[in-house]
Amino acid sequence: MGFDAAALPTFPWDLLEPLKRQAAEHPGGLIDLSVGAPVDPTPDELREAVAAASDSPGYPPTVGTAELRHAIVHHYAAERGVTGLPADAVLPTIGSKEMVALLPSLLGLGAGDVVVHPVVAYPTYDVGARLAGARPVPADSPAQVPGDLAAKVRLVWLNSPANPDGRVLGVEALGEWVAWAGSVGAVVASDECYAALAWADPWASDGVPSLLDGRVGGGSLAGRLALYSLSKQSNAAGYRAAWVAGDPALIGRLAALRKHMGMMMPGPVQAAMAAALGDAGAVARQRQVYGRRRRILLEALDQAGYVVEGSGAGLYLWFTTPDRQDCWRTVADLASLGILVAPGAFYGQAGRAFVRMALTGSDQAVAEAAARLAGA
Ligand SMILES: Cc1ncc(COP(=O)(O)O)c(C=O)c1O
Repeated sequence: MGFDAAALPTFPWDLLEPLKRQAAEHPGGLIDLSVGAPVDPTPDELREAVAAASDSPGYPPTVGTAELRHAIVHHYAAERGVTGLPADAVLPTIGSKEMVALLPSLLGLGAGDVVVHPVVAYPTYDVGARLAGARPVPADSPAQVPGDLAAKVRLVWLNSPANPDGRVLGVEALGEWVAWAGSVGAVVASDECYAALAWADPWASDGVPSLLDGRVGGGSLAGRLALYSLSKQSNAAGYRAAWVAGDPALIGRLAALRKHMGMMMPGPVQAAMAAALGDAGAVARQRQVYGRRRRILLEALDQAGYVVEGSGAGLYLWFTTPDRQDCWRTVADLASLGILVAPGAFYGQAGRAFVRMALTGSDQAVAEAAARLAGA
């Protein structure tokens, strides 16, 4: 069976266009905090590396250059406390969204199979399941998976820190999913693209645990995959620089398919990614920038009477009104101030009373947003 495009919902951001036009009519101009695309400059290390590698007449390796694979393995050891990852446990991807959308298909899932994803979630987990003809089922713990579907689950998506609500899964919660997935024969894939952005303790002090962490469920990599991306941590969404890592047998299967499909990360981007992973300083500086903007927006939302929930990590503030009004009303209220945010309904029915504000405004835009909220 091929991709089932008819099974897909309307592309969510298209639904926001009318409110974006309304917000743009504000005399002070549009402050777009909806999508969460980075606005700060790409660090020089990446730009210089991509330029230095621009003479690229041959095909790049699908599995990544030895230098890149080493850089990813080193990143896990230095930043995530994951040691001993073999070089054949990593595979570059062209941004992480394509892997989120393709993984169910690449794993051979189809009709009759179930893909579990978080209840309030990045929409592409649902999309990827539908593209494969599988059934997406929301659940935040194994106990929430309907009993009659458990035996059909082939893939469980975790997202920690989560988009949109910033929830972090600790070692125990990760281990619970790993044990459960093992018992039904499912793969667990953890999307960890916001791992560098932890604000609240214990994650800010101890770091956000990876699914590949040796403390999780016995430490074997079998049946586990973790996704990571440089889009946010390195202001490199335009580079499409990401990877999947974990169970070498699964990675080998994915790599074999991607060789046939020609899905390889461009050579100059491989060089840039390796360079970025060697520069933890740039990531730390960007974290400080987001931390500062986050404090300003948190205070402004609080003073304007909004109620922020979760949001202890990640790139977003997830908030509602005291009476939990429908998200589209809150989006419209903020659009009248020229501020565009994402409606929680984009992330599932359970998000209907919430909206999501990205920390990705420039310092000037964030200060202006706070001033408009204060004046409202
Ligand atoms: C949870 C999550 N996963 C994956 C992505 C995709 O990121 P990219 O394709 O830029 O790596 C995003 C982007 O916003 C995201 O929020």
